[in-house]
Amino acid sequence: MSVFDLQHGTVVLGGRRILEEVSVTVDEGEFVAILGANGSGKTTLVRTLVGLNPLEAGTLTVFGTPLARFREWPRLGYVPQRLSVGGGVPATVGEVVASGRTGRLSRFRRFSRDDRAAVAHALEDVGLSDRAGDPVATLSGGQQQRVLIARALAGEPEVLVLDEPTAGVDADSQDTLAGALGHLSNNGGSVVLVAHELGPLAGLIGRAVVLSHGQVQSDGPPPQPEGHHAAPGHVHVHPHADEQPPSTFGLDR
Ligand SMILES: Nc1ncnc2c1ncn2[C@@H]1O[C@H](COP(=O)(O)OP(=O)(O)O)[C@@H](O)[C@H]1O
Ligand SMILES: [Mg+2]
Repeated sequence: MSVFDLQHGTVVLGGRRILEEVSVTVDEGEFVAILGANGSGKTTLVRTLVGLNPLEAGTLTVFGTPLARFREWPRLGYVPQRLSVGGGVPATVGEVVASGRTGRLSRFRRFSRDDRAAVAHALEDVGLSDRAGDPVATLSGGQQQRVLIARALAGEPEVLVLDEPTAGVDADSQDTLAGALGHLSNNGGSVVLVAHELGPLAGLIGRAVVLSHGQVQSDGPPPQPEGHHAAPGHVHVHPHADEQPPSTFGLDR
């Protein structure tokens, strides 16, 4: 079954067509990177997939249900681009991560042992178990990003959508993130990840959708790391490889 199925999606923001006839399908268990230059529409696309931007034209189903009828929001985790949680809020790491469970709490059910276990697992996944009691503001930028990812993971989503989770994040945090996402993926979860540079995440990516000026430029196996040369018998996997060399495949600014 598909997690997201966007067909001929057109999105208009501020009177401008930001996405033009974009078709993207993400199947269960897939790990898809959304690549492309700044302003190509990556954030707009993932916001559209999680229901935050209306479609001007086209169709979108989420877990097989047309968006307008979709109600199972806890199945989705979304980590927006450059969200700051530190700003003067005295919440601890543990409290922020626990807030990721609220979508699963029913009106009459209090925080249970399952909820506490999910929070503990999420903290462990991002390597912050020992910081649970610390105010978020005392963490580094990369660690704060990990808190947001843990909050999404605590909701035990079936698909996690992350918008540039590695931008401006230290190498340790990138490695930890790669471990956490690999864990989710190995357990059958789906991941949609917007990235400018893949770094340690490169090995996890199964498919890359490259956007250019609000349209899909290519959709297929991910770009190969620098220095890769096609071996004899190498399958031609880049639909538009003649337009751009693989080393800058949609990642140029
Ligand atoms: N709310 C908005 N209103 C008007 N234009 C927007 C809005 N959000 C994004 N845009 C424009 O849409 C284009 C794509 O933006 P975005 O999806 O953020 O790209 P990316 O994430 O790839 O950098 C940019 O030109 C941006 O200025
Ligand atoms: Mg963006």
